[in-house]
Amino acid sequence: MHGKWWQEAVIYQIYPKSFKDSNNDGIGDIQGIIEKLDYLKDLGVTAIWVCPFYESPMDDQGYDVSDFYKVSNDYGTLTDIQKLIEELHQRDMKLIIDLVLNHTSDEHPWFVESKKTKDNPYRDYYIWHKGKDGCPPTNWESFFGGSVWKYDEITDEYYMHIFSEKMPDLNWNHAQMRKDIYRMMHWWLNQGVDGFRIDAVAHLDKNCNFVNRSIPEGRLYSPCYDEFSNRPKVHKHIQEMVKDVLSFYDVMTVGEAGGASLDDALKYCAYDRNEFNMIISFDHCWVDVDPCSASYLPSKWTYKSLHLPDLKKSLAKYQINLYGKAWNTIFWSNHDQPRVLSHYGNDSTAYRKKSAKMLGTVLYFLGGTPFIYQGEEIGMTNVSFTNIDDYRDIEIFTLYKETVLNHISTKEDIIDRIQKRSRDNARTPMQWDDSKNAGFSQSEPWIKVNPNYIDINVEDNLLDKGSIYHYYQKIFNIRQNTKTLIYGDFKLYLEEDENIFLYTRSYQEETYIVLANFFEKTIDVVLPEEICWKKAEIMICNDIEKPLSRNMKLHPYEAIVYRIL
Ligand code: GLC
Ligand code: CA
Repeated sequence: MHGKWWQEAVIYQIYPKSFKDSNNDGIGDIQGIIEKLDYLKDLGVTAIWVCPFYESPMDDQGYDVSDFYKVSNDYGTLTDIQKLIEELHQRDMKLIIDLVLNHTSDEHPWFVESKKTKDNPYRDYYIWHKGKDGCPPTNWESFFGGSVWKYDEITDEYYMHIFSEKMPDLNWNHAQMRKDIYRMMHWWLNQGVDGFRIDAVAHLDKNCNFVNRSIPEGRLYSPCYDEFSNRPKVHKHIQEMVKDVLSFYDVMTVGEAGGASLDDALKYCAYDRNEFNMIISFDHCWVDVDPCSASYLPSKWTYKSLHLPDLKKSLAKYQINLYGKAWNTIFWSNHDQPRVLSHYGNDSTAYRKKSAKMLGTVLYFLGGTPFIYQGEEIGMTNVSFTNIDDYRDIEIFTLYKETVLNHISTKEDIIDRIQKRSRDNARTPMQWDDSKNAGFSQSEPWIKVNPNYIDINVEDNLLDKGSIYHYYQKIFNIRQNTKTLIYGDFKLYLEEDENIFLYTRSYQEETYIVLANFFEKTIDVVLPEEICWKKAEIMICNDIEKPLSRNMKLHPYEAIVYRIL
């Protein structure tokens, strides 16, 4: 399958709360996005994905929706969204919106009804269950820590929430609930949106046998996510959603499928399955977790140093096995991940620019639709708040409560992990310039700006010809004009090499070679004979230009792309 607009798109992800505040109340908004569309267009972006902007108590920054049909007052109005669509379409750009289907806010009218009595018509829109001997129905752990069950006095039952307790899970076995969701999807599509990123879609089907699972030592609950992830009926629901809604429109869909195996991935998005166009899965974001190093914590808070072959294999697995069967997504970061420059790159002053360009090179020459997360294109980094009160993410607070306040770990240990791993790393305000609050807002922002905005900001990037922004712009320009980079196959070389990332992309008669040193040491590398073609043109590099040869010396974080002539 070739030639679909979403296969040739460059998608930029916007976290609206932190992108640009147009009315100076400290919160980013839709008008702020509109102000910056030319900036994005210049970068080479062809579509934006905007995280939820619906009415919400903001327990999970908008992923807890209380009205699917309303825009949050913090962000603007439906008229602003219509204007955004119009402004995008005028620029030949598209709008992908975030669709939250696994849960609602507990303040959504459906849940308010559902709580009231056991025979309320909305009761079974959610998952309610009796306790067992004074305990919750199961010992399963929520993604945000704590139990997946919350007791509710009114009817003396528990409801399920795999995220925060203010986010009750919807019951996808309920036909009328599904119909109501489909009606809402039609409504947004009729507003003119061009696609959906479907949030947490892997979890729509739960195992309703509700059996206890084993609990690791030092923990209170069982992290048995397989009880509610990537289960068979998810696909039945998606197929129905396609039949009843999506098949009526020419739109793009990308499902968030956390924990999906390769087989699962193919079920979600193989061309012949008629489900989604693509999925987002996270294997490559977590190759450096080390659960054994701190078994008292959920694995996302653990880490070891990066073993490059693990990262290469993780990316290659999708590149190779989806090729010809399904379409890939390529991304380093999003609003749930630490900043990639701090995670897999080097955010020190000496290597920040160089390693950011290397990361961009390695990723965006792969096959699949590129997703860039706001700020990545200017080299934004993790933030190092030391005071817990400076953080805003519910997930951080649960972690802190369960570990520090329960004396399971020290404050120093947990703050250090939060600085490395937490989602707030990606959620500090976009750094536009070196004026107050990084040009994000005239007022105190809802979350503090990263103090490094003086050195890292859009304005400087635009002025500097050698900036990360201009390098990214060049990458997308090359990519968009090269069928080989969009449709070519992928081959990984030097798979076990611990420093070098080397692959080719080929299509018809053309081949591109991508070569990078992933670390700070200078490396002498002998390239495999079969890729040392005689003549090669340099397409892009982040160091002085050097010809392709059998023996090469690569400086720290050096990256080069050749095209074979
Ligand atoms: C997804 C979102 C994340 C949110 C969760 C619950 O993983 O990306 O930000 O907390 O779903 O909606
Ligand atoms: Ca605002």
